[in-house]
Amino acid sequence: MILDPPPGEMQRLGHRAVDLAVDHLAQIRDRRVVTPPVAAELRELVREPLPATGTGLDATLTRFFDEVLPRATLVNHPRFFAYVPGPGSFAGAVGAFVAAATNLFVGTWLGGAVMAQLEVQVLDWIRLALGLPPPFATGIVTTGGSMANLGALAAARARAGGRLRVYTSTEAHYSLAKSARVLGVRAADLVALPVDREQRLVVEALAAALADDRAAGRVTAAVCATAGTTSTGAIDPLEACADLCAAHGAWLHVDGAYGAAAALLPEHADLRRALARADSITLDPHKWLYAPFEAGCLLVRDEAALRAAFLGDGAYMQDVPRDEVNFFERGPELSRGARALPLWFLLRSVGVDAITDAIRGDQARAARACARLEADARIRIVTPARLSVFSFGLADGDEERAKRWLRAIHADGFTMLSSSRVDGRFVLRFCVVNHATSDADVDASVDRILALLDGS
Ligand SMILES: Cc1ncc(COP(=O)(O)O)c(C=O)c1O
Repeated sequence: MILDPPPGEMQRLGHRAVDLAVDHLAQIRDRRVVTPPVAAELRELVREPLPATGTGLDATLTRFFDEVLPRATLVNHPRFFAYVPGPGSFAGAVGAFVAAATNLFVGTWLGGAVMAQLEVQVLDWIRLALGLPPPFATGIVTTGGSMANLGALAAARARAGGRLRVYTSTEAHYSLAKSARVLGVRAADLVALPVDREQRLVVEALAAALADDRAAGRVTAAVCATAGTTSTGAIDPLEACADLCAAHGAWLHVDGAYGAAAALLPEHADLRRALARADSITLDPHKWLYAPFEAGCLLVRDEAALRAAFLGDGAYMQDVPRDEVNFFERGPELSRGARALPLWFLLRSVGVDAITDAIRGDQARAARACARLEADARIRIVTPARLSVFSFGLADGDEERAKRWLRAIHADGFTMLSSSRVDGRFVLRFCVVNHATSDADVDASVDRILALLDGS
C-alpha cells in the first residue's frame, strides 16, 4: 500500500470523507446524544490487530463512520447541554482539514512566517472582538483553556522572578491549581478564597490576603479571577480584583475560557471594561466562538513576561530570527500546526456578527429552558441562567432521587446534562453553547427531562 494515492484518488476519497461527515452533521438530531459507555464493549469494538498491510482508506472510512462514530458522545449535538459543550462549526472544520492537509508548521519564524503572522492576526481579531486595548496584542492559540491557564501562570511567575502566591476562588476551574502545581508553586502558596452567595470570589477575603502578604513581606501574587465559572457561570468582581491587583503589584489573570466570549455582546460592556484591566485572559474558541477542537487562546499584556516564561535555545535554532514572531517562545511546544487556521476560516467566512448573534441565542435558550423547568413545582432553580448556564435540583431537596434522575437522562440518551455542587449540594446543570440548538431542541429536551423525572 503506498502512503499517498494519486491525486484523482485523493480527490475521490476526500469527497467521500466530506460526504460522510456532512451526512453525519445533517442527521445529528436523529442520533442519540450519548450511549452510556461500557469499557469492555468499547474495547471489543475498537480491538483490531496491528494492520501490517493496511485495509485502505475506503474501508477505514466505512469502519469509522459505521461502527465507531455511532458509539461516540456527541458534544456538538444540538441537545448536548452537559459541561460546556463543544459545538464546532463547518467553516472551522474546513480550516482544520486545510491545516492538516497542507501540514503547515507554526513554531518558528523561519519555518512558518506567514502562518505565524496569520496567528497574530487571529489573536488581534479576538482582541478587537473583546474590545481590548492594543497591549493585549500578544498571545498564543493553545489547545484549550487548560493550556492557556498554564501559560498565564507561567508568565506571571516569570514576571515575579521567583516565588509566586496564587489566589483563586473555590469555584475556579481545577486547571489553575493544576497549572500552579506543574509550575512548582508550593501547596501553601495556592490559596482558594471563599465565594459569596452568588458563587463570586469574596473581594474582602482577597483584600485581607494581599494585605497579609504585604505585612509578612511575602512574594508577588497572581490573582486568578473567573469570568464564567464552569458550574454556574458566575463572574467574579473583576473591577474590584483589578483595583486590588493594581494596589499590590499583583498579576491579574482572568479565566474566561467559557464566559469571556460574552464580551462580544455590546450589552456586556462592563465585562469588556473589566477584561481590559487584566494582565492575561484565557478564552476558549472551541467553546463559545464555535471553533472546532482544539482551540484555546491566551492573551497577555506583557509580551516580555510570556517570552521569559517560555524562552528556549539550541545550536540548531541559530538561523531563527529572534526579533520576529516565534510561537515556541510563547508556549511549551516547538512543533505546532496551524492551530489558528480553523479560527481564521471561521471568523473570516462567517464574521463576528453571526457569532455574536449565536451567543445571544444561546443565552436566550438557556433562559427559556430555565423558565420552563422553574414552572414545574417539583423543581427548584438553584442558580439562575447566567451567561448560558443554570443549575437546579428537586424542590424537596431529595439528592438521591436527583442523582437517579440524571442517570436516567444519560441512559435515555435523547439529551445530556451534567451535575455539580453548589454550596455543597448536588445540582444538575443545563448549559447551552451551540449555534445549532433551536427553541424546539430546548423544548423537546425539557419535556423529556420532565418525563424522566416521573420514573426516577
Ligand atoms: C472556566 C474554565 N476554565 C478552564 C477550562 C478548561 O478548558 P479546556 O477544557 O479547553 O482545557 C474550562 C473547561 O470547561 C472552564 O470552564
